[in-house]
Amino acid sequence: MNLTISRAHAWLALVAMAAIVLQFFLAGIGIFGAASIQAHRITGYCITLAAVLLLVFALIGQLGRPRIMFSAILVALLVVQIALIESKQPWIEALHPLNALAILGVTAQLAMRGRGAARSGSSTDSVTARAVPGE
Ligand code: HEM
Repeated sequence: MNLTISRAHAWLALVAMAAIVLQFFLAGIGIFGAASIQAHRITGYCITLAAVLLLVFALIGQLGRPRIMFSAILVALLVVQIALIESKQPWIEALHPLNALAILGVTAQLAMRGRGAARSGSSTDSVTARAVPGE
């Protein structure tokens, strides 16, 4: 069961990473006026939903401390990402693209650790497996 959840987590992390890369392009489309920023907004909320799912999977699948921790950090960064825009303060909103880089980095960590877990055939990634022998 935990192995299935681990695989679902790994796949969702990969999909989220692809969506975040797309998100940079959708921001460009909106900023440079090729189309409205609406697609970027909708994708942003979908990514946030995916992050909540990642955290739920990590918790119920007991995927190990690193994947639980990075999933929780991702949810927090996405809440901050929306709050930055909601602040309506240009100097604070300007941090939105910078925070996007942190979001991409954390999601990449999750995707890599998911791959590691899949390769080792365990529900926890290889770093955790080494740190807790016999798990
Ligand atoms: C991880 C990547 C990103 C996510 C998840 C994300 C998410 C979001 C969300 C959810 C909104 C709507 C917020 C609201 O309606 O209150 C938004 C708006 C916006 N984002 Fe992003 N964003 C990301 C990256 C970027 C980047 C890289 C840029 C620019 C270089 C950018 C520029 C904007 C702009 C211009 C808006 C519209 C602001 C407005 O309505 O006044 N975003 N973003």
